[in-house]
Amino acid sequence: MSSSTNGNSQRPVIEVDDVVHSFKGRRALDHVSFKVMPQSLHGFVGPNGAGKTTSLKIICTLLRPQFGIVKVFGHDVVDEQKMVRRKIGFMPDHFSTYRQMTVYEYLDFFAAAYGLPFAQRTRVIDEVLALTDMEGRKNDLISGLSRGMQQRTSLARVLVNDPDLLLLDEPASGLDPRARIELMEILKALRSMGKTIFISSHILPELAELCDAVTIIDKGKVMYSGSMSGLQASTNEHPTWRVTLGSEVDRIVDRMKGLHGVVDADQVEGRPEYRVSYDWTATDTNTLLRGLLDLGVPIVGFAEDKRHLNDAFMDLTTKGVK
Ligand SMILES: Nc1ncnc2c1ncn2[C@@H]1O[C@H](COP(=O)(O)OP(=O)(O)O)[C@@H](O)[C@H]1O
Ligand SMILES: [Mg+2]
Repeated sequence: MSSSTNGNSQRPVIEVDDVVHSFKGRRALDHVSFKVMPQSLHGFVGPNGAGKTTSLKIICTLLRPQFGIVKVFGHDVVDEQKMVRRKIGFMPDHFSTYRQMTVYEYLDFFAAAYGLPFAQRTRVIDEVLALTDMEGRKNDLISGLSRGMQQRTSLARVLVNDPDLLLLDEPASGLDPRARIELMEILKALRSMGKTIFISSHILPELAELCDAVTIIDKGKVMYSGSMSGLQASTNEHPTWRVTLGSEVDRIVDRMKGLHGVVDADQVEGRPEYRVSYDWTATDTNTLLRGLLDLGVPIVGFAEDKRHLNDAFMDLTTKGVK
């Protein structure tokens, strides 16, 4: 199984090597191994109960692995707990207590816990509020915030000690589509600042847009770990593109089907929009687009259809569970 996210020889930020962990004799993690490379946005995807939270707790030193080795920035999570904690920020999957504090009080509490002196705390809190687009909310009670705002407050808290690695446990779950998009934009900005982000979700398409690498886990076993494009290639799913035309064109579906490497084409809901799939062993996206242009049709949109990734995910994880 491929576990490298890119071709470089940089040291991974997270190295999970052959971890086994059981609860009351039941295996939650069954020889789990994967790597997360620096400055990547790495998705950790699997159905509920797959072992995501258990893995995250081990990586962030809250749970000691019963077997196997986990290193973060080269530091062992058991022997060098303090070194690891200094460099990471963990956002758990629920917002515990503190709900009767204001956003500012909450962040100040954690900044103080990290040992930041008073004068520095004000500046740091302003910075993390700006990063999470929460400036206007600092005097609001956490209990009165929407789920999206609470998630951003939680993310702001994680940023207080300026960690190089963010570990986020299902931060997008329960968010409406708009709040989800806003959160994803914040994560992209954080990555561009050089942070490595390891983010879990039980839905692959939620992360497909965002992540450059992904690890898929099911029933405590890693089913795939590597680049997003490698995931596509490792399945039998055909890459699919949504092609939007400026107007209806006669017999266009048949003409699209006739292009080299195209395995299927169909129209979406009576609009001049088409789903075109190709065999990635026979052609590529550039050739497909060139072929479409050669048909002389007015193309106004050309975007990857991520739905096939969900099919890939379903292929790799529990079959038959509906
Ligand atoms: N503290 C615990 N005690 C007993 N079983 C647990 C505990 N934590 C997790 N598990 C079990 O371990 C498995 C993996 O759980 P978890 O890591 O929370 O999965 P995920 O986060 O992917 O939903 C599940 O079967 C879950 O019931
Ligand atoms: Mg979980």
